[in-house]
Amino acid sequence: MTGYAQKRMNQSTRRGFLGGAAASVALPYVLPGSVFGANAPSNRITMGSIGVGGMGTNDMMGFLSNDDVQVLAVCDPETGSNGYNHWYNKGGWLGREPAIERVNKHYAKKRPSGIFKGCDGYVDFRRLLARADIDAVVIATPDHWHAIPAIAAAKLGKDIYCEKPMTLTVAEGRAIVRAVESRNVIFQTGTHHRSADTHLRHVCELIRNGRIGKVKRVISHIGANNRTSSAKKGDSMPIPKGFDYDMWLGPAPKAPYHRDRTHYTFRFILDYSGGQTTNLGVHALDIVQWALGTDRSGPVEFEDLGAEFPTDGLFDTATKVHFRAKYASGTEVICETGDDKVIARFEGAEGWIETTYSSFKTSPASLKDSVIGPNEIRLYKSNDHKRNFLDCIKTRKETITPAQVGHRSTSLCLLANIAMLLKRKIRWNPDTERIIGDEQASRMLSKPMRAPWRL
Ligand SMILES: NC(=O)c1ccc[n+]([C@@H]2O[C@H](COP(=O)([O-])OP(=O)(O)OC[C@H]3O[C@@H](n4cnc5c(N)ncnc54)[C@H](O)[C@@H]3O)[C@@H](O)[C@H]2O)c1
Repeated sequence: MTGYAQKRMNQSTRRGFLGGAAASVALPYVLPGSVFGANAPSNRITMGSIGVGGMGTNDMMGFLSNDDVQVLAVCDPETGSNGYNHWYNKGGWLGREPAIERVNKHYAKKRPSGIFKGCDGYVDFRRLLARADIDAVVIATPDHWHAIPAIAAAKLGKDIYCEKPMTLTVAEGRAIVRAVESRNVIFQTGTHHRSADTHLRHVCELIRNGRIGKVKRVISHIGANNRTSSAKKGDSMPIPKGFDYDMWLGPAPKAPYHRDRTHYTFRFILDYSGGQTTNLGVHALDIVQWALGTDRSGPVEFEDLGAEFPTDGLFDTATKVHFRAKYASGTEVICETGDDKVIARFEGAEGWIETTYSSFKTSPASLKDSVIGPNEIRLYKSNDHKRNFLDCIKTRKETITPAQVGHRSTSLCLLANIAMLLKRKIRWNPDTERIIGDEQASRMLSKPMRAPWRL
């Protein structure tokens, strides 16, 4: 039974089931019902945020704006903006202390005294997870730090909102799916365009209902958005005070601290992320998979079409993405660095649809006004990704982007990276989730983890 489900069963002892490792943790500062209006404690979802940098802070503020949520704790090895590079400093003070301050301020405004100091902060996510009074967690750590806390949270029965890309490796994604399924926890992957841009659902419904005939080719664009760094792999800087760099590295290989290695720019280093292929690519390719009806499966072949990787320096992810993925149906997806205003152009036997994140064009033009009939395929509807997660916590129904779907969109990007890095075609069996006949590529489905961390 999960945290929220358990809470519903134990309404009278809601705060009473702290046990085991959690027993030493102070009880939370329980907010009076008046703060939450109609949301009685038993209907309230208690949350903790793991990773409160750029996106984690954004996610946390989004959840805070829901009156049936109480954020009890945050966790980050960064005390507050010490190591933040200039790209994110623009966005203000980020990390554990700023997040605590934001939560406390939010609740203080709702109290007659104007004072609230109830949000707890942790450096180690295991301490946050040990709190039995937390129903659900947000995981917005760098990609190399998604799988371990997600699996630990699932094992403790906590519902999970996990940022995209779901994982650093295909093996980690499969392990999350197993853990989520075995404990029946609610999981939402942060590929939020499924909820945010409702025209995308309509585009996918048009394609799924055959309006452009059999889809032959999809051209998908990934925004360039590549950062540069003059740092070399071995360059080091003093670790800023208040930053637990060893915890930040976690399961990744030991490496000297350099500012460009960590906050935000970790996404350009293969030890921690997959570059723009997985960062922006997963948003676009998640929609492609949705439109093709393959979002619980995937292509059968990946081929490099001339991707480019830096030859030296700290950043080693692709600066130019270019690959082809082929499905068993014969449909091919060509994905390249380009103008990501066009996230996908679907070319079918009877027309095409080209979509951006805000609008779409069709041929024939009349297709734009086509209405989906009552007996046609309708796709999952959500207009708010976070609200969808919260509602599903209460109903125990599947979210719009469960782990099984997040894992497949992420796998597509990770497998493309393998093909681009090896500069050869790889064949993939989406049923067994194995690469066929290529041992070197198969080894890249997982990465060793630095002790003591393991899946
Ligand atoms: N959905 C979206 O559109 C979207 C947008 C941006 C980022 N993201 C995703 O969010 C994640 C974070 O990206 P970001 O840009 O916010 O990076 P960031 O570097 O700004 O933030 C990550 C935070 O996680 C913290 N962290 C590292 N190890 C941790 C640990 N063991 N426990 C707790 N916290 C830890 C870091 O100290 C940092 O504060 C990435 O996976 C990224 O792809 C999603």
